[in-house]
Amino acid sequence: MDISSTVRLNDSNRMPWLGLGTWRSPPGKATEQAVLWALEAGYRHIDTAAIYGNEQSVGAAVQKRGIPREEIFITTKLWNADHSNPGKALRQSLSKLGMSYVDLYLIHFPVRQRLSSWQVLEQLQKDGLCRSIGVSNFTIRHMKELLPSARVIPAVNQVEFNPYLYQRELHEFCTKNKVWLEAYSPLAQGEKLKDPKLVSLAAKYSRSPSQLLIRWCLQKEVVVIPKSVHREFIFQNADVFSFSITKEDMVLLDSFDENLRLCWDPTVAP
Ligand SMILES: NC(=O)c1ccc[n+]([C@@H]2O[C@H](COP(=O)([O-])OP(=O)(O)OC[C@H]3O[C@@H](n4cnc5c(N)ncnc54)[C@H](OP(=O)(O)O)[C@@H]3O)[C@@H](O)[C@H]2O)c1
Repeated sequence: MDISSTVRLNDSNRMPWLGLGTWRSPPGKATEQAVLWALEAGYRHIDTAAIYGNEQSVGAAVQKRGIPREEIFITTKLWNADHSNPGKALRQSLSKLGMSYVDLYLIHFPVRQRLSSWQVLEQLQKDGLCRSIGVSNFTIRHMKELLPSARVIPAVNQVEFNPYLYQRELHEFCTKNKVWLEAYSPLAQGEKLKDPKLVSLAAKYSRSPSQLLIRWCLQKEVVVIPKSVHREFIFQNADVFSFSITKEDMVLLDSFDENLRLCWDPTVAP
């Protein structure tokens, strides 16, 4: 496995294992530069969202670098306030990105209108505006509600996932139903990078704590999208394919779970 390696989604489309996250990457130069560094480091997968306000900068960087459209995987998301017209929302995102399709369009959060919006996403996929469709922040309860009525099984569920929030049951449920799990906040937003037990385990591998957290996701067979706006971190986070964590140390990392939710809590969603 290397940085160009991909997973095969349930709709046969391919998605790179590693992507660059862009939440809180300020629109304009900062995001554009972060994406350019990521492309230089070999990333071919960028995660954005309408609500991040930086789709334009992501699109500008991709164009600047001159990467053929089919060689890059772009995800964006339907924001909660836009469920009255998901088609309009996706077209606006595409216009900002300067692209005719995205590779993955996600329902950002399981708001009330999620089932009717899913039907619209199914149509948008048919219309060719998004190659794959998926969900984000869906719990097992939300998945169980969606799956029986869906004509298209979500290709992906993007959720908060790292050793400190190891959603083992959700992971197993998604895998069983052929929905690929994708880890957001894989670095616990930087909050745990000084945790002594993580630091000492990383030292054992002569790796950084971030690299260990990203590698843990990959070995769980979870797609992973660490965010950074710093060149050094972007390159470091990509250098995770030439070592592996032993079975014993994977179990040790699993034991770090403390149900630490740093982002929003979808278990309280309707
Ligand atoms: N679907 C959703 O609801 C949802 C929610 C949250 C996130 N996401 C997606 O997932 C992506 C990743 O999650 P996240 O942004 O919440 O957090 P994250 O990737 O877990 O952590 C990002 C933080 O870690 C720092 N960092 C990155 N690499 C580092 C390294 N090698 N050493 C030290 N610090 C490092 C970053 O700093 P700098 O940026 O200052 O370099 C930033 O402060 C988001 O950007 C977004 O694309 C989706």
